[in-house]
Formats: sequence, C-alpha cells, structure tokens
Amino acid sequence: MSQIVIHGQKKLVGDVSISGAKNAAVAIIPAAIIANDICVIENLPLIEDVTILAEAIKKIGAKCEFKDQHTLIIDSRNIHSCYADYDSIKKIRASYYLLGAMLGRFKKAEVAMPGGCNFGIRPIDQHIKGLEALGAKISIEHGIIKASAAKLIGTNIFLDVVSVGATINIMLAAVFAQGVTVIENAAKEPHVVDIANFLNMLGAKIKGAGTDVIRIFGVEKLHGAQYSIIPDQIEAGTYMIAAAITNGNVAVHNIIPKHMDSLSAKLREMNCKVEEGDDFIKVNASKKLKSVNVKTMTYPGFPTDLQPQMTALLSASSGVGIITETVWENRFQYISELKRLGANINVDNRIAIINGTQNLTGSQVCATDLRAGAALVIAGLAAKGKTQISNVKYIDRGYEQIEKKLNLLGADIKRVTE
Ligand code: UD1
Repeated sequence: MSQIVIHGQKKLVGDVSISGAKNAAVAIIPAAIIANDICVIENLPLIEDVTILAEAIKKIGAKCEFKDQHTLIIDSRNIHSCYADYDSIKKIRASYYLLGAMLGRFKKAEVAMPGGCNFGIRPIDQHIKGLEALGAKISIEHGIIKASAAKLIGTNIFLDVVSVGATINIMLAAVFAQGVTVIENAAKEPHVVDIANFLNMLGAKIKGAGTDVIRIFGVEKLHGAQYSIIPDQIEAGTYMIAAAITNGNVAVHNIIPKHMDSLSAKLREMNCKVEEGDDFIKVNASKKLKSVNVKTMTYPGFPTDLQPQMTALLSASSGVGIITETVWENRFQYISELKRLGANINVDNRIAIINGTQNLTGSQVCATDLRAGAALVIAGLAAKGKTQISNVKYIDRGYEQIEKKLNLLGADIKRVTE
C-alpha cells in the first residue's frame, strides 16, 4: 500500500515536461490492431492503463514490445482471438475500444464490460447504437459485450449525446466498412483528432475530425506506421493549476497551447499571468487569486477532467466560485475528501459552491478516482502541514512520475510504501 505524502505551502517554480495523452494512448493501442501489420507508437505515457492494454492485446495474439519506456512496437499480424477477457481489462474504461477495433478488422468481437473511474452511470448505448447502425449484431451476456457482423456498411449516425468514446469506437469500426460512414454530433476533443490522424497514417480515409461531422470513407486495407501521440491536455492543465495554487511561476512544456485555451482563460480571469509559446505555457501566479465560475463542457469548453483540480484551486482562492458539472452526473464524490483539508464547499446536485479560504490544512485523505486524486495533490500543495493521500493507484493511472515532476518544481512530495 502506497501513500503520497506532501508538506505543503512550497511555491512551485521552474519547468515541467508533459507526457503523451492518456486518453489518446488508450485508443491508439487498440486502433493499432486493425492494421494487420507493425505499428510503432511513440510518446506513450508511462502509466498503468498503457501497460494493461498492452497486456490485453498480447493475450489475443499481438506481439507487443516496449522499445523504450515510451515507445511500443505492436505487431498485430498473428492475432488469434477476438475475446478480451474480464481479467485483462476490468480496470480500464477504454477497454471498449477493443470492441470497435476487433469488430472493424475481424467482424467479430467479445469484450468484457468496461471498468474505470466511477463517477456515476457510464452508459455505452451510443457506442452500441453506432455499431448496430453499421450492421453489427450486439448482445450483452454475463457481462460480456458480443458483437458480430457478416459485413459492415457505412451509414449516417447522429449521436444523441456528444460522446468521445462512441465517436472513436464508431471510427474504429467504420474504417473497413463499405461506403461512407458519417458521424454527426461527433466529439471534437483533441484525442478524437489524434486517433483519426493515426488511422489516416495507416491508410484510412477519415475527414472532419475536430468538427462535429466526421466522414469515414471505407478502405480495404491498412498498413503499419510510426506515430507519436499528442501531449496530455489534462496533465498539462493539472500542472498549470498546481502552479497557480502555490502562487508559483512554472513553464509547462511539450504541450499544444491551443488545447489549453479554456483553462488559460479561466486562470487569467483569476489574476494569473498566462503566456503562450509554440509548445509551452508559462503560468505566473504572483497576485492574489480571485474566484471564478466554471461550467464543464465538451471540447473546446472547460474539460470535466480538470473539474476536480479547479475545485481545489477555487478552495484556496479569494471569494466565492461556482462549478457546474454538465458532463458527468456524479463527479463531486471527492469533495468530502477536500473538506478534510479545510475546503468550504456546498454541493447541490451538479453544482458546487466554493467559499475560498487561506486556511487549507494537511490531513489524511483518500483518492476516490484519478482526477479526484490529482485534486487532492493540488490542495495538499497549498495546505499547511502534512497531507497523506491513500489510494495512489488511481493517480498512477493518469500521471507519469507525478512526485518526480513536482519535486523538480520545488514541492515537498514523496511516496511512502508500507
Ligand atoms: C472520455 C474520457 C474521460 C472524460 C470523458 C468526457 C477517455 C478514455 N475517457 O470518457 O476521461 O471524462 O471522455 O470528456 O477518453 N454517454 C451516454 N451514452 C454513451 C456514451 C456516453 O449517454 O454511449 C454520456 C455519458 O454518460 C457522459 C457523456 O455522454 O455524460 C460523455 O461521455 P463520453 O464522452 O462518452 O466519455 P468517455 O468516452 O467514457
């Protein structure tokens, strides 16, 4: 059992480099098995979700070898099974991408129902609706989703809700579908574009990714490729917020500043100086931080995956801030843990009202999911005294070497294993 231990109130100063995007990585690894060839994936984050997926595709017959810590070579020419079992993927939500990928290539897929972070009901009806529209027959038996099709045929699919997962899954399945598949009301998140770019490098014909209408022109064959995945927008945002809460001065490198627009705008509104370069953003928070209101939205709006970290920041700012969560129905579970550190927050359904305080104080807390864990680290950096965070496994799912990166910026943070 590990804990993260932080002695707070150290100003973060210096440079931090951001890893590859988790949410792109967990889709690109399954996408690589569609190729029936060798793919080299670079700039992968060194996190548990990546190793779990690499093991899962090994189990179905792909050869999967890390060339170095961030580069994976996937040879999918000898896949012998279309069944991803519960043990290999129970921990991660993104296991459902194996469904679209295997269905696309083999016209058959069986995948255990996804796990992952628990913040309310996480339906997959839009994935199923899309795959069925392409011609797949789908059933759920004993926790296993079974999909099969004699052939897949392109069609128009209008998503009832904007879903990142459904958009990517339909793209994966439609690569080999006959004719044209049109996804309307598609998600526009940066990693949707990254998966489309990757598939196009393999020989797919996908147009419009990054807008709300994506067209997939079916092809007959793909080939291998070498691809470097985009930087992690959420990891970058977490360090920008960590800089702000410690009144620090941090340059966040290896990012795409455009992806950070909604957060940069909020930090400026809070009194931070935010400067953008080609592939970095500097956050200087020397002035008193004032509270703001934030509503989570699909991209390019404020990301729900930065909502808990933003709540932590508002907890230590001056005045009252309101967070409205519009994406997930139950994403405030972590607030009871933030309150242990002295945060003054009232939650009413999907709205959190945060009274900023200068008196966050260290305590023992527990990460309830990945980004909740990040929020506790951020609050711990600002709190007086010692904060001990348990359930570190959640944080490890999305942050590569978080203690090392924060220590280099001047934080006093370490991992203690009992
Ligand atoms: C992805 C991210 C997750 C992020 C979320 C929203 C990955 C691996 N995870 O999750 O970190 O919080 O996007 O930005 O990329 N919905 C349905 N039916 C469906 C699918 C979704 O109703 O079939 C609803 C969900 O309940 C939710 C909303 O749509 O309210 C968005 O979900 P979605 O974009 O699909 O999230 P994920 O892809 O699971």
